[in-house]
Amino acid sequence: MKETKLVIKTNSKIYPIIIGSNLLNKISTILKQNNLLFNKCLIVVDSKVPNKNIALLKKNLKCKKKILLLFKSNEKNKSQKSVNKILNVLLKNNFTRDDCLISLGGGITGDVSAFAASIHKRGMKFINIPSTLLAQVDSSIGGKTGINNKFGKNLIGTFFQPDLVISDINILKSLPKREIICGYAEILKHSIIKDKKNFNFINKNKFKIFNLESKILKKTIFESCKIKRFIVQKDEKENNLRKVLNLGHTFAHAYEATLNYSKKLNHGEAVLLGIKSAAKFSLLNNNLSKNSYDKIMDHLNKLKLNYNIKNYFTKNNIGKIIQFMKADKKNKSKNINLILLKDIGKPLLNLTFDHKKIYSFLKKELMN
Ligand SMILES: NC(=O)c1ccc[n+]([C@@H]2O[C@H](COP(=O)([O-])OP(=O)(O)OC[C@H]3O[C@@H](n4cnc5c(N)ncnc54)[C@H](O)[C@@H]3O)[C@@H](O)[C@H]2O)c1
Repeated sequence: MKETKLVIKTNSKIYPIIIGSNLLNKISTILKQNNLLFNKCLIVVDSKVPNKNIALLKKNLKCKKKILLLFKSNEKNKSQKSVNKILNVLLKNNFTRDDCLISLGGGITGDVSAFAASIHKRGMKFINIPSTLLAQVDSSIGGKTGINNKFGKNLIGTFFQPDLVISDINILKSLPKREIICGYAEILKHSIIKDKKNFNFINKNKFKIFNLESKILKKTIFESCKIKRFIVQKDEKENNLRKVLNLGHTFAHAYEATLNYSKKLNHGEAVLLGIKSAAKFSLLNNNLSKNSYDKIMDHLNKLKLNYNIKNYFTKNNIGKIIQFMKADKKNKSKNINLILLKDIGKPLLNLTFDHKKIYSFLKKELMN
């Protein structure tokens, strides 16, 4: 089946996302078709991507010098130290702005590599080949790059659009079920912030998506990327509308940070918890109807995605969660900015709450 192409047009760059199967075999043609030629490339590869995919990429890339750098992906390595490692390889090998950095990995590899590419000589060519479902539907597009530090998640970074994104669904075959769930969390997020029709589509096809059925999976990735494209094209630098992509993420980032980015709760799982918290908060704040709330919960229950904050936190953690929520980038005052829901497909932007209100919400959630 032929691949599909989605073009993202932002003020800073126009670039295509190619979605399909077996694309690593066709990479040389794809690069030519998109006028992406370079002499040298550094491929930063997630160490869990199967060797056969790495070999395929290396074999089919036609350039003079190819360097491979393995990256162990976890939130602790989403750090300045990892960025320095990449920069040192680029500088030692005299990479110019016209040479290319390629990320073959999930959201963490992509965010770290893109950040390094954006600051190497003030910006070099960058291609993202996302290898997780989460990265294919979300992190590989839109140009947010970044790393964590002790004050919180993704607090250091740049806006830097890639030159090309290649989403090959074959690479997803080696993903553990837990990682499919994480990608699904962002697919669900996109549908409930923008598109009731898309929510109905994923609701109908949820099991096929989880089984990575080719045709449905490609359509799901394409439609999810289209939602993100709509938002990013309107507001590249997150001045306003783009904040909706943070639905559930203010809670999620604080949950992850409170657990010190433990493997017990990875990013996508935290997003699922965060979406549930945001939906419940919307219900209790009289923004979301009980009927729409139940539809979202029913969807998650049918998929057996019964994640509950009670399995991760106790009352003693609330203070720390609030502290991280206060440090969120969206906040412009002492209050906490949340994205909530009015209905499926209808987000609410720029609502701010006193931290005491969120404290008592979390306390009730942990007691129920
Ligand atoms: N830049 C953005 O706009 C944006 C958007 C959403 C999320 N993010 C960031 O993305 C990160 C999460 O991304 P993620 O969920 O992809 O995490 P990840 O990059 O850590 O990948 C998840 C796990 O899958 C493994 N893996 C990757 N590809 C594999 C493959 N093909 N086969 C088997 N295992 C594989 C990784 O080693 C890792 O253990 C977070 O840090 C989050 O902040 C960024």
